[in-house]
Amino acid sequence: MSSSAPQSGFSHEKIETNNFLMVVLILLVVAIGGLVEIVPLFFQKSTTEAVAGVQPPTSLQVMGRDIYVREGCYNCHSQMIRPFRAETLRYGHYSVAGEFVYDHPFQWGSKRTGPDLQRVGGKYSDEWHRIHLLNPRDVVPESNMPAYVWLEKAPLDGAQAATHMRALRHVGVPFTDAQIDAAPAELKGKTEMDALVSYLQSLGLALK
Ligand code: HEC
Repeated sequence: MSSSAPQSGFSHEKIETNNFLMVVLILLVVAIGGLVEIVPLFFQKSTTEAVAGVQPPTSLQVMGRDIYVREGCYNCHSQMIRPFRAETLRYGHYSVAGEFVYDHPFQWGSKRTGPDLQRVGGKYSDEWHRIHLLNPRDVVPESNMPAYVWLEKAPLDGAQAATHMRALRHVGVPFTDAQIDAAPAELKGKTEMDALVSYLQSLGLALK
């Protein structure tokens, strides 16, 4: 058992003294570990199916969501309630994966200049939202949220809604042809304000 005895067979030293081999093997181990954690999520019902009560958005809500993204509301608002007591006491039930299956791309966010909005649906009246979006200071004097005055005067483009719904169908939102064809008529005379308020009122109702 002398330490200078020649080693036979495989030696760990070969890996530890060869950068290239070390990097390749590390990548292999990380890749396998990643696949084992990630791949099952594509097949689990809890991550791929809507929880009870989650409906595909209406044409008005599809447009409202686009306006939410366009105006960058996610820069100040998250839509992701973490499973901590401080969060659930303030916002309600924590977020679960099955609530986001129709959300493309999801609006989780991480920046909270303002409060989380995932369960804001039904918290205020439509009228409150209108006043708040036109001038947040009218309802919350200390607010530093910007005013979005132009939404009230901007008409919606119904043809665009149909196109967006068709695109969403490609990634799994189960819109029917009838729903898509009805969009232009449904949105006639509606403004971007109507759409955004309708979207906000739809948020988080399934697990209230
Ligand atoms: C510069 C940061 C900022 C941006 C951008 C912003 N907000 Fe806010 N928001 C706030 C702050 C701060 C509050 C808390 C004070 C208040 O109610 O006005 C708030 C509050 C809210 C509330 C009330 C939430 C509650 O539970 O009381 C809603 C709804 C809301 N924002 C929607 C929006 C929408 C929709 C957009 C995009 C059109 C947006 N916000 C953009 C900062 C922002």
